[in-house]
Amino acid sequence: MRIAMIGTGYVGLVSGACFSEFGVDVVCVDKDVRKIDGLRERGEIPIYEPGLDALVASNTAAGRLSFTTDLKEAMAGADAVFIAVGTPSRRGDGHADLSYVYNAAREVAEHMDRYTVVVTKSTVPVGTGREVARIIREANPAADFDVVSNPEFLREGSAINDFMRPDRVVIGAETERAQAVMRQLYRVLYLIETPILFTALETSELIKYAANTFLATKITFINEIADLCEKVGADVHDVARGIGLDGRIGRKFLHAGPGYGGSCFPKDTLALVKTAQDFGAPLRIIETVVSINDQRKKAMADKVVQFLGGDVTGKTIAVLGLTFKPNTDDMRDSPSLDIVPALQRAGATIRAFDPEGMHEAAKHFTDVLYAESAYDCMAGADALVILTEWNEFRALDLDRVKTLLKAPVLIDLRNIYNPDDMEAQGFRYSPIGRRSVG
Ligand code: UDX
Repeated sequence: MRIAMIGTGYVGLVSGACFSEFGVDVVCVDKDVRKIDGLRERGEIPIYEPGLDALVASNTAAGRLSFTTDLKEAMAGADAVFIAVGTPSRRGDGHADLSYVYNAAREVAEHMDRYTVVVTKSTVPVGTGREVARIIREANPAADFDVVSNPEFLREGSAINDFMRPDRVVIGAETERAQAVMRQLYRVLYLIETPILFTALETSELIKYAANTFLATKITFINEIADLCEKVGADVHDVARGIGLDGRIGRKFLHAGPGYGGSCFPKDTLALVKTAQDFGAPLRIIETVVSINDQRKKAMADKVVQFLGGDVTGKTIAVLGLTFKPNTDDMRDSPSLDIVPALQRAGATIRAFDPEGMHEAAKHFTDVLYAESAYDCMAGADALVILTEWNEFRALDLDRVKTLLKAPVLIDLRNIYNPDDMEAQGFRYSPIGRRSVG
């Protein structure tokens, strides 16, 4: 089997490398010459994802994975072409911007000279697959092809494992021929008995959005419960466990925090809201989730200010973690993008440390002092705020923290410490949805 993967962003590069690991010949193609040169000549991975460099290196060496800027070359002999280009939120109206997807479809049509399965891997609104088919047919009436939707459910930081051992694979393919090609591509997953679901095109496209918006809703639900916990003296950690042990609810995605961020949930919730409105079937739950999550990020800065006595003018706040979650350098829609400037507006000076995200962060923040390490960050600060739950922040030497901070004050927006321990250590401590100390 041979495939072309258009787009070497997150989804394209991970999917391409993983398919090559499955034994498929993969040619990744991208218009960005520098990116392709870096990948081809120096094995330079443009994103931070654990294990991806080794996977790319070994499959490139084995001759199963290659990189080019030439789509014609990439498509020569390909059984399938995957479109994995970006679908950013369109400025102004929140709809997904599909211009990259449709341009790719036009170019694919030009170079098609045998039966080809055209697969949309990017998250695309319902109806995009049909439109891709129409564009290809219009551009090349003789083309022999099927369009298939095969959404990706991978999470940043565990993307390779998510691809190699998924809970399920969803494939919107409506002809036997296309289904056979997709079955062959995912042959390895059949061997480990992964459920592979064949559906209609629109259904597959909607599954991706329904999954992400459901998860965003689950997080938002527990975040609101956390706020209530604080008022009534309950503990959100125990509530999450208590409800999560019910198999119908499940324990995952019930960690209260500063609000969801990242490249998917904020964009996909908004896009589905717009689609639903356009079709006259508004998703009021998701509309509410979007607005609660937006407000939450801002409310987190107030929470910090309140815990520090209502006035942070002239205070130095040490912030640990800037990325939207650990094990990534991704800052897209990270809660820190709202929280850090809000604290600055309130008069605080921000010192920050993030194990991987500072380079990206520097593009967003002004006047943030970047530290060399977690301990360097908190030296002489008035308070410590944890924004992202990197493992190294879970195991801080608390005695050292106490000597470095002006006063032992910790605001833990990820609940990685617990109130009893912090009380025993003599900290003033403010978690999310749990008893605060001091
Ligand atoms: C998500 C989906 O999980 C994945 O299936 C999809 O393909 C892309 O979007 P990702 O954005 O990489 O993946 O990260 P994820 O681990 O899902 O976290 C998203 C956000 O939700 C983060 O900001 C995270 O901190 C937050 N979150 C997650 C919580 O606040 N609480 C939780 O319990 C889980």
